[in-house]
Amino acid sequence: MSGPLNIALVGLGWWGQKMLSVLEAAPEDIKVVRAIEPNLDGVRALCEGKGIPVSADYADALADPAVEAVVLATPHSLHTAQIAEAVKAGKHIFCEKPLALTAEEATRSVALCAEAGLVLGMGHERRWEPPIADMLTRADAGELGRIQQIEANFSHDKFVSLDKSNWRVKSTEAPAGGMTATGIHLLDLSVRLLGAAESVLCICEQLSSDLPQGDTVAAYVKFAGGGTSYVSASLSNPFMSRFTVYGSKGWIDIRDKAHVEAPDGWIVTSAMAGGPIETVEIGKAEPVKDNLVSFARAVRGMEAYPITADHLVDNIALLEAVFRSAKSGAIEKVARPAGQKLEKAS
Ligand SMILES: NC(=O)c1ccc[n+]([C@@H]2O[C@H](COP(=O)([O-])OP(=O)(O)OC[C@H]3O[C@@H](n4cnc5c(N)ncnc54)[C@H](O)[C@@H]3O)[C@@H](O)[C@H]2O)c1
Repeated sequence: MSGPLNIALVGLGWWGQKMLSVLEAAPEDIKVVRAIEPNLDGVRALCEGKGIPVSADYADALADPAVEAVVLATPHSLHTAQIAEAVKAGKHIFCEKPLALTAEEATRSVALCAEAGLVLGMGHERRWEPPIADMLTRADAGELGRIQQIEANFSHDKFVSLDKSNWRVKSTEAPAGGMTATGIHLLDLSVRLLGAAESVLCICEQLSSDLPQGDTVAAYVKFAGGGTSYVSASLSNPFMSRFTVYGSKGWIDIRDKAHVEAPDGWIVTSAMAGGPIETVEIGKAEPVKDNLVSFARAVRGMEAYPITADHLVDNIALLEAVFRSAKSGAIEKVARPAGQKLEKAS
């Protein structure tokens, strides 16, 4: 097939609506042909205004032959079952993060998509932020030398005022403070740069809010191939997003000027061996849109989707060990289920 990818947007809450609005700038690549949202009253006017049919039942999207892919912006604990149902219906899937809450579930979802020859996209848009993409390219080319350490923080206080019945602040849906909200993006980038993790120590505390899952989390990760990453997140301090990578030939520090909800550019400070410390400003971009466009082009066979099966499973295996360590207070091993074939048969 050619032309824009026809998608159903599933879950029209905060992030589903963000995706709906950025996709208006990508008509050649993606068309939203249907929306699914159980809270119909909250979104009927929005969808009518955009001429998008909306209904409450996910099965409507799966039964619609016009829908080629589903984009899941739903509570975390629903992702695994919704992916399995989409695979049965032959739909490609873009899933918001985290892919799953356990490595076993992540492995199952990745294997199901691979067996069915379906593309599995993932809401890790940070990889599409221009300075992050540039940093990854330079790291891959060896310009930074041996990657040794990562220090990263992603914090905001958007959830402090949420009602305590909201799934986003439940310790079952979103354990370990901000780890599933923001820290997971930093774990993804760490795995992308340093490979599978070996062990992690996580400390999660409730210091300045009544958020049930804790508000302050820090994880110190050791990677199987050497190297470490320190990932921290607060759900009760003002917005901050910083990713710093240190290599034997140079280091790069990337700060977001605003939350990805309304990107406002980046400040990048770096130094290469023997050179000065330099700071540059990078202009605005829309990485949430660019990730979805990349997914659509992967479905059309125009490009390879860059978040691989191994990245997806290694990230969730690390996340699960973070949850265990946050509870036990001990260093926990990162374990990945064996035996599943994750890549499409060629
Ligand atoms: N990539 C990012 O930067 C980013 C940012 C924010 C949120 N997210 C992710 O987006 C997802 C949604 O988070 P949110 O903050 O928008 O939450 P939200 O609660 O605002 O929205 C979730 C929506 O899903 C709906 N829903 C519940 N059950 C459903 C079902 N069975 N079928 C269809 N819809 C259903 C809810 O009614 C709600 O409107 C989560 O996975 C979250 O981690 C990603």
